[in-house]
Amino acid sequence: MNQSDSERIRSVIEGMGFEMTEIEEDASLIGVVACSVRQKAIDKVYSKIQKWNQWKNEKPLITFVSGCILPADEVKFIKLFDLVFRMNELLELPDMLHQSGVASEFSTRHPLNDIEREDERTDFWQVEPTYSSDFEAFVPIQNGCDKFCSYCAVPFTRGREVSRASADILAEVERLIENDVKAITLLGQNVNSYGLDKKGEELSFAALLRAVGEIGSKSGKELWVYFTSPHPRDMTRDVIEAIADYKCLAKQIHLPVQSGDEKLLRRMNRNYSIEDYLKIVDDIRELLPTATIFTDIIVGFSGETDEQLERSAELMEQVKFNMAYVAKYSPRAGARASRWEDDITPQQKSERLAKLSEVLKRTSLAHNEAMVGKTFRVLVERADKRMEGALASRTEGKLPVRVLDASNDLVGTFQDVEITSASALSLAGKLAGA
Ligand code: 5AD
Ligand code: SF4
Repeated sequence: MNQSDSERIRSVIEGMGFEMTEIEEDASLIGVVACSVRQKAIDKVYSKIQKWNQWKNEKPLITFVSGCILPADEVKFIKLFDLVFRMNELLELPDMLHQSGVASEFSTRHPLNDIEREDERTDFWQVEPTYSSDFEAFVPIQNGCDKFCSYCAVPFTRGREVSRASADILAEVERLIENDVKAITLLGQNVNSYGLDKKGEELSFAALLRAVGEIGSKSGKELWVYFTSPHPRDMTRDVIEAIADYKCLAKQIHLPVQSGDEKLLRRMNRNYSIEDYLKIVDDIRELLPTATIFTDIIVGFSGETDEQLERSAELMEQVKFNMAYVAKYSPRAGARASRWEDDITPQQKSERLAKLSEVLKRTSLAHNEAMVGKTFRVLVERADKRMEGALASRTEGKLPVRVLDASNDLVGTFQDVEITSASALSLAGKLAGA
C-alpha cells in the first residue's frame, strides 16, 4: 500500500516540475511514506529525519512525511518535517508546497486542477500513478479498516473503510492490461469487505474479482491478478469460486491467521475460530488445488503462553503454509492491546519467531522438493542480485525461482522453467527446452 501511495505522490511532485533522483544526498525535496504497523518502521522514520535535518545546515532541503502515521507520532513529526500530509490531502500538496514558500519556483499549474472533486476521502485515487514497474502494478481498491484487531494501528492511521468506485478500479485494470502489464495486485487492508461500506450500491468483492476476470479473459493476454489482504472473517466461498473460474485470477492466497490459539484470537478481536479458518483452507484446497497459501502470524502478543505459541506451530504444521510472515508483537499507541502489559521479553519473542520459522522451513521445503523435475510457468522479475547470469522470477503461486543461465532480455516476460533444485523458501531451475 505504501508503494502504491508513493507512486501517486511521485506523480504529483513530478507534475510540479521536480525530477526524480536515486541519490538521497542530491534531493532538494525528500520525504518518507511511513508505516506504523510496528515500532521498528517508525524508528526508521525518526532516524531519517534526524539525518535530513542535519543536512539542512549545509543546503536547502524540503522534507515531508505521509503514509500511515499514528496521532502521537504526527504531533512530533509536525515539529520535525516541513510538511506532514495524509494521503487524502495529496491533491493539496502543490498548494502546501507553495504556501510554505519552499517551492515557489515550481509551477502551480498542475494536471491535478482537472480532477473533479467528489469525495475528499478518496479523490487522491484519481491521480494517475507513476508505476514503478512496467509489468507489475498495484491497484488500490479500498482504504482504511473497521476491524479493530486489538494489536493493530491501521484503524487509527488510515481511518474507516472506504471502497474505491469499481468503475475506476476496472478502468485502471483495463488500462494496465492494454499496456501489457503481466501481474496486478488489488490492494486494501481488508479487501474482501470491499463494497460493504456502500450499502448495496457497489459490487461485492467476489463480483469485483469476476469483473476483473472478465476483462482479463477478453483481453486474451497472459496475466496474473492477485489481491492482498483478505480477512478470514469475510472470506466467503464465492470469492474462492470466482478465483477458480478465471485463469487470470492467480492461484495464490494470502490469508493472515495471526495465531493458532482460540483464546488469543479472541483477545486479538479477530472474530473467527480455528475451525472457521481451517474450513476456508479446505475450500481453497478443494476449489484451487494448485494454490499456494501464505499467512501472517504474530508471536509474543501480550499474555501469550508457551502452549499458545505451540498451537500456532501446530496450525502451521497442519496447513503447511508456503510462506508465513512471522512478526514480533509491537504495542501500538491507541490500539486496545497497548493498555495490556507487553510481558513477553524481546528474547522470548525472538525464540518464538525462530521456532515458527523452523516449522515454516520444514513444510515449505517438503512442498518445494516435490516441484523438482517438473516445469512451472514463471514471471521473470529482474536480474538475480546474487548470481551473475541468473534471473529472479516467481511462479503463479509467488514462489521465488532463480532461473540459471538466462538473458536479462527476459525480464518482464513469462517463461517455462524446469525446476532443478529446491530449498526451504526458494527454487532454482533452467528454461524449459534450453
Ligand atoms: N505487532 C506486530 N505485528 C503486527 N501486525 C499488525 N500489527 C502488529 C503489531 N502491533 C502484523 C500482522 C498483520 C501484518 C500486516 O502485520 O500480522 O497481518
Ligand atoms: Fe489491522 Fe485487523 Fe484491520 Fe488487518 S483487519 S488492518 S490487522 S485492524
